[in-house]
Amino acid sequence: MSGEIERVLFTEEQIHQRIREVAAAIEQRYEGRELKLIGILKGSVFFLTALARVLTLPVKLDFLAISSFGSKNPGVVRIAKDLDEPIEGEDVLLVEDIVDTGFTTRYLLQNLAGRNPNSIAICTLLDRTTKRMVPVPVEFRCFEIDDRFVIGFGLDYKQLHRNLGYLAVMKP
Ligand code: IMP
Ligand code: MG
Repeated sequence: MSGEIERVLFTEEQIHQRIREVAAAIEQRYEGRELKLIGILKGSVFFLTALARVLTLPVKLDFLAISSFGSKNPGVVRIAKDLDEPIEGEDVLLVEDIVDTGFTTRYLLQNLAGRNPNSIAICTLLDRTTKRMVPVPVEFRCFEIDDRFVIGFGLDYKQLHRNLGYLAVMKP
């Protein structure tokens, strides 16, 4: 285990178990329909692929990348790489690694809603509701967490640790 890790928050097994439960809820909600999973590069890639792998619905994937302008401008987000395909008329699930202040997700939700999908909902691996600054409708979430900074399963610290199979709390 890396020296920067204080403790494991959720093991690989716990994460995959929870993803199966959330996938079951998603299948119930979208029964008989086709789903477009939209991943936000790079953090949500690990969660998105694990989720897609256990979903029995027909799914299509697309990705977008964003740049934010640092903690001094939390509301300012820009699309650095857009989706490859339109989403008009589709049922869209926006797949996030973590919803923290909510600024990023709210921006993406508004942007994607403007493209006339049939429906749009948010699915996140982690939800840190204690830091929420703008309301965001999170429909599906795996875990709620507190204020400590976490890494692994896609989440980074300075671009590292995304490839950890588990979620861990960093040393302060
Ligand atoms: P927000 O909801 O706009 O504040 O930002 C969410 C983004 O902040 C996520 O997509 C992550 O990239 C990053 N982030 C927030 N909390 C953490 C954390 O605990 N570990 C790693 N990245 C985080
Ligand atoms: Mg990040």
